Amino acid sequence: MNTPIKTPVDSAIVKQEINAMGLESVGLASIRELNRIVNNIEAASKERFIRMEMGVPGLEPPKIAVDAEIEALKKGVGSKYPPFDGIPELKQEISLFVKNFIDVEINPISCFPTVGSMQGCYMAMMCTSRRIKGKDKLLFIDPGFPVNKSQARVLGVPYDHFDVYEFRGEKLKSKLESYLKKGDVAALMYSNPNNPAWICFTDQELKIIGELATKYDCIIMEDLAYFGMDFRKDYSTPAQEPFIPSVAKYTDNYILLISSSKSFSLAGQRIGMTAIPDKLFNSKGDNLKGRFDSNNFGYAYIFGAMYAISSGVSHSNQYGLCGLLKAVNNGSYNFVDAVKEYGERAAVMKKLFVENGFDIVYDMDEGQKIADGFYFTISYPGFTGVELVEELLYYGISAISLTTTGSDRHEGLRACVSLTGKDRFQDLEERVAQFNKDHPKGSGFKIIHS
Ligand SMILES: Cc1ncc(COP(=O)(O)O)c(C=O)c1O
Repeated sequence: MNTPIKTPVDSAIVKQEINAMGLESVGLASIRELNRIVNNIEAASKERFIRMEMGVPGLEPPKIAVDAEIEALKKGVGSKYPPFDGIPELKQEISLFVKNFIDVEINPISCFPTVGSMQGCYMAMMCTSRRIKGKDKLLFIDPGFPVNKSQARVLGVPYDHFDVYEFRGEKLKSKLESYLKKGDVAALMYSNPNNPAWICFTDQELKIIGELATKYDCIIMEDLAYFGMDFRKDYSTPAQEPFIPSVAKYTDNYILLISSSKSFSLAGQRIGMTAIPDKLFNSKGDNLKGRFDSNNFGYAYIFGAMYAISSGVSHSNQYGLCGLLKAVNNGSYNFVDAVKEYGERAAVMKKLFVENGFDIVYDMDEGQKIADGFYFTISYPGFTGVELVEELLYYGISAISLTTTGSDRHEGLRACVSLTGKDRFQDLEERVAQFNKDHPKGSGFKIIHS
């Protein structure tokens, strides 16, 4: 099985570019490092990859948002500082958006824009981990977005994590409680739908999380980076069931972190939303004052953290998002329909992988098959994820290893559908078919190039 095989991308070039980056392991490369290697291989080989390593939107930004921002710029907002916590009309629209799509009431005062939900996550970690003396730890329900852990490290905040794969449904309760009962967990974080696995917590699981958050005074940082993108249900109509499942239905101890990057195709604008329920926003901690000048949680958030980090979000950008949210809230712009294409792509791409010997790693939400969405996870018998990342490069396919996401499923990769339009399905099919042919089951699965 070690005879040289002609792969879709010249193997000498792939090897040369991998070596040129000088990484210890290409399979453990960060998303941005892998992105760089693939750019270099593409440039040297003139072969276009099926790019699945990076979660960037592949769709145009909505015209409504672009127009609203241009108009604001023309009016001259660029010369004026915006309020740290957002322009009043945007705060209103965020509050209404949360009411319309999650069905919870949050006062506009504690709804505000952030520089991407990434900044929202950072601020949430910063403020929750310094709220109460002796409660400074974060807990990540993994698999997760690796950058969130980088944020915790940058902040010097200790954290624990576990892979939820074996702890779905009722089993989640005792697993969570084993961490929370120690009393030092300030906040807990997960994304829903999940990056990278695209699992979605059921209402039963959200209820368990919410009830434990109240019982142990642990704040849930609910990362809704893929808001409304579980396409198994239609969440697109404002103020009408079904509402987007959220822990907000089961506790007051939460922070919603909503991104506009994927659901609204506005990644380049770096604007996200944070919504904090009134009870938490108006609560007091005993450990905030030293850093944020006030023990009042909401005050510390806005006048301590936001002031120190970026003093708000670019002024015109806020008008752009505000214009879009108005249209979403009054039902004239269907944001879910605009991004449904990701689910359609995932259905085809998953099928192509599965028909060619791959398995879907995270495949179920308890009794229900996971949704088709922005990401899916794959493995190939006999390969670790780290090995598979490298081997697929010779076949012109790029994806990241789940090992970098806190997953225990070390055989898996995360694949993102956003940059693979229908015009590339034929290429994908041919490449995975050849991969399957070149790595027949039962042959010992020798890696042929390394
Ligand atoms: C789970 C998760 N959280 C947060 C983000 C960042 O969102 P934003 O672009 O709004 O900063 C992403 C983006 O990929 C993500 O996947």
